[in-house]
Amino acid sequence: MTQAKRVPVAVLASGRGSNLRALLEASKAGHLPNADFRLVISNQPDAPALLVAQQHGVEALAVDHRPFKGDRAAHERAILEHLQGAGVELVVLAGYMRLLTPTLITPFAGRMINIHPSLLPSFPGTNAQKQAVQYGVRVSGCTVHFVTEEMDAGPVILQRAVPVLPEDNEHTLAARILAQEHQAIAAAVQLITSDRLEVIGRQVRIKPNPDSDSKTPLLHPKSVEIVVATGNAHKLHEIRTILQDVPVVFRGTTEFDPMTEPDENAPDYLGNARIKAQAWQQKTGLWTLADDSGLEVDALNGRPGIRSARYAASSEARNRKLLSELDGVPFEKRTARFVCTVVLCGPDGEEYHATGVCEGHIGFEPKGEHGFGYDPIFVPDDFGGRHLAELSESTKNNISHRAKALYGLKPALGKLLKM
Ligand code: GAR
Repeated sequence: MTQAKRVPVAVLASGRGSNLRALLEASKAGHLPNADFRLVISNQPDAPALLVAQQHGVEALAVDHRPFKGDRAAHERAILEHLQGAGVELVVLAGYMRLLTPTLITPFAGRMINIHPSLLPSFPGTNAQKQAVQYGVRVSGCTVHFVTEEMDAGPVILQRAVPVLPEDNEHTLAARILAQEHQAIAAAVQLITSDRLEVIGRQVRIKPNPDSDSKTPLLHPKSVEIVVATGNAHKLHEIRTILQDVPVVFRGTTEFDPMTEPDENAPDYLGNARIKAQAWQQKTGLWTLADDSGLEVDALNGRPGIRSARYAASSEARNRKLLSELDGVPFEKRTARFVCTVVLCGPDGEEYHATGVCEGHIGFEPKGEHGFGYDPIFVPDDFGGRHLAELSESTKNNISHRAKALYGLKPALGKLLKM
């Protein structure tokens, strides 16, 4: 194995930060061993990208452009100071929505890259996906290129093609291009930080991999992204953690344009999970995972069960209501179980599902700070009477109904990764 020096990297992002997340997750999964992500800078103080950085333990800084009142050079000098202060050697523009000037470009000539959602030189500038749909091209995609003074015109490092379908609008096309962007940006950072790029005029040559037995080949040749049909940040985090060894990028629904959620009117967990998974699969065109779960209390003939999320208006109210319904019921009669069914739907009508159960009792009062939903009042079997919300995240992720259901999906995920 060649031991290259780790390259200090900064990412500049203005918005959602899904490309940034793809980079940080690829790094966490060990695919970018030569990249040292030191700093994320946004010109928008409330950019979700800054939260993504913090969630991954990377320093996040807002350098708001507005106080600079149109003086681009002064704003860029402020950014440059931070980059140089952190010893940054590679700058990645990942959805950075400001045109840069030589103030920032010149010091990072050959060491600054950008991702753009079209096959350049077609459709530079803003709204590239809309331009592609309106022009009527049959193929679009994304480009990672070196940044030069001319907008979206530097030497091309990588491109990935995406077919434009007759039924596409700018949003559906953007979602499929984005899946490719996440792969392309990480692959480009892998190439550049392992010194495998040579720029000759406009052309970028990719040098052969010196580590023929390298454990870090050019990332996944195929895009493996799964939409998780939930807007619940806790649930998304839990699913990402439980499946962290599966090399897939999980994307929550808040990364897409909002849509009216379908009615979950099926008689069982499987039916409701299927309704959610199919709705988001059809919207995004991507593989989609959804779950439905409930708490079944024997003394209440299995209620709240399928209606657990709708049992009362908030988590606290649901827990209070359940405790009051069980008022006077002794511990041994308070048996209950969490049940979860997960469904994975594919673009060609594929469907896999699995169910997990966690047995226990309902306690007498809420306890614990971890978890969410009914966790504070649920006492799982075999944990010395401790409530689910009192257990560490990693313990919960071994025993919970959702974890067991997701583990049950692993063979299907393995199949999907081989396709
Ligand atoms: C991405 O689609 C990226 O290609 C685009 O902004 C989006 C950022 O998404 N960049 C440009 O259009 C640059 N001209 P993200 O914040 O989720 O990574």
